[in-house]
Amino acid sequence: MGDMEIMLERFRFLTAGESHGECLTAIIEGLPAGLDIDINFINSELQRRQSGYGRGGRMKIESDTVKITSGIRFGKTLGSPLALIIENKDWANWQEIMNTAAEKYTDEKAFYAYRPGHADYAGSIKYNHKDLRNVLERSSARKTAAEVAVGAIAKLLLKQYGITCSSRILQIGNGETEEEFHKEIDKAKEQGDTLGGKIEITFNNLPIGLGSYVHWDRALDGRIAQAVMSVPAIKSVSIGDGELGAELSGRNFHDEIFLENGEIIRKTNHAGGLEGGMTNGEALVVKAIMKPIPTLKSPLNTVDSFTMTETSSHFERSDTCAVEACAVVAEARIACVLANEIMLKFPSDYIE
Ligand SMILES: Cc1cc2nc3c(=O)[nH]c(=O)nc-3n(C[C@H](O)[C@H](O)[C@H](O)COP(=O)(O)O)c2cc1C
Repeated sequence: MGDMEIMLERFRFLTAGESHGECLTAIIEGLPAGLDIDINFINSELQRRQSGYGRGGRMKIESDTVKITSGIRFGKTLGSPLALIIENKDWANWQEIMNTAAEKYTDEKAFYAYRPGHADYAGSIKYNHKDLRNVLERSSARKTAAEVAVGAIAKLLLKQYGITCSSRILQIGNGETEEEFHKEIDKAKEQGDTLGGKIEITFNNLPIGLGSYVHWDRALDGRIAQAVMSVPAIKSVSIGDGELGAELSGRNFHDEIFLENGEIIRKTNHAGGLEGGMTNGEALVVKAIMKPIPTLKSPLNTVDSFTMTETSSHFERSDTCAVEACAVVAEARIACVLANEIMLKFPSDYIE
């Protein structure tokens, strides 16, 4: 067996950065040389992540833009690792609190009341943090900005293969139209409450046979589910109409195969473009559910780990609903999985 056949990660990336730290950083490895990097496109994706009805005050401060510091020259990738940073526009106000130097220690902005629905409780035990800010800062969804920038680069690679992507919101609270979404969000905001929602992400024009049925860790449905499920606040992922699998019969669920002018065609796509862990030539359709934002203005009951008494959860500037942004993050995560699959299927050191 050749190395390529067992290689699972060809497009890889890591990110670093705290929510109120100086900047977010990402390093991508595995990009072919010669790929055009359109900075405006990356910035427009970052803008999409920051927009949407129901976002909190922070979005007005941030206005993210990317700076690429390595791996490209005159707009094209070099084949070397690509490094990017996104500066936190609010850093000036946080540099005392988030200082990296030991002698600058301060407990201003420390907090001790676990926020239900967040990483605080388990994270403080796992990493032995007393000040829960040490958990909040990295567990926050702020890091998804770096992922969206990486995802934008993955999308630029996919575009070379004619692959495109879109997403939409299917549900927020009890609403199913944009007007209803806004009403639901206004109502939740008024009540100091929050909302989640359901999203759908579609990728078109994928070649047949990305992923594989030969091993569990090469099945593309599994790889996509992992990438989307680990987006902060996403609690359910399904492929195509997977969520209807318990109620529909086989005749109604499966996409029959027909011949039209000598071509294989389908009239339905309940499978969401994946059969046997592989793309089957139909559109890839992924649905996901985001839970309601856990930080509530009208706070939830919790325990203060310092005083060991019951109290109200810590509130810090927060979104009422971030479903639109969540869809952008999910798109980016899937784009990275697909870019990896494309690089595995069509290994190449450069693009012409
Ligand atoms: C784009 C986006 C924005 C988010 N904004 C907030 C927010 O403003 N306040 C908040 O409490 N949680 C927010 N979350 C959700 C939390 O980050 C998430 O629920 C928390 O880290 C716990 O992780 P888990 O829900 O995956 O278990 C956001 C998530 C995403 C994807």
